[in-house]
Amino acid sequence: MPFDRSVKIAPSILSADFADFGREIQAIEAQGADWIHVDVMDGHFVPNLTFGPPAVKAFRKHVKTVMDVHLMIAPVDPYIDAYAEAGADILTAHVEAGPHTHRTLQAIRAAGMKAGVALNPGTPAQAVEHLLDLADLVCVMTVNPGFGGQKFIDMTGKVRALRAMIGDRPVHIEIDGGVTPETAPLVVEAGADVLVAGSAVFKGGSVDNPAPYGENIRAIRASVAGAAAA
Ligand code: DX5
Ligand code: ZN
Repeated sequence: MPFDRSVKIAPSILSADFADFGREIQAIEAQGADWIHVDVMDGHFVPNLTFGPPAVKAFRKHVKTVMDVHLMIAPVDPYIDAYAEAGADILTAHVEAGPHTHRTLQAIRAAGMKAGVALNPGTPAQAVEHLLDLADLVCVMTVNPGFGGQKFIDMTGKVRALRAMIGDRPVHIEIDGGVTPETAPLVVEAGADVLVAGSAVFKGGSVDNPAPYGENIRAIRASVAGAAAA
């Protein structure tokens, strides 16, 4: 995929109907999602458990855009090939998940995927400074990972610091957690270009009534029109 710094909305299927992922993915793509964000949790790195490679492989059949897989698991390395095989386009690992994120990012790229590195709210931007040549995306968590529907934690200072650190490199800045039409402009203005949103996209809709998904996506998009960092 060619590098594109325009704002992209990546709905998290953590807020979808877990008994109907195929139709949910089709519905949010039809309603204007740019990427599909898949939250993988292991009940160990984070206090919640979601889905593994076979489920992600089943989602792939329905994703026509970009499958953005966010691993909230530790360790990461033993599972990289399984998520490549499952069809992830982007695979993101947390910098807090182990001592060898540098090796992890190399392994993700070697497996043919784009490599992402995520930062918990308590982790400074400097933690990824020496990883930027190995990364295609930096994910700034604006909640403590584990659950959808939490309150946005202001990380605009960190986003600004990362934006300056990234310079001309083709690296996306993704924001994950509590993104709404109120919070989205703050992070886009600071330099983010990928907005993950779960509850703010899925609220009020369903596979049988998907129009609210489109309205919610358009509300986030409209909120950031003109807010992009210079
Ligand atoms: C949190 C996940 C997020 C979450 C976002 O651990 O990584 O992707 O689903 O959900 P909202 O938008 O509801 O905060
Ligand atoms: Zn996520």
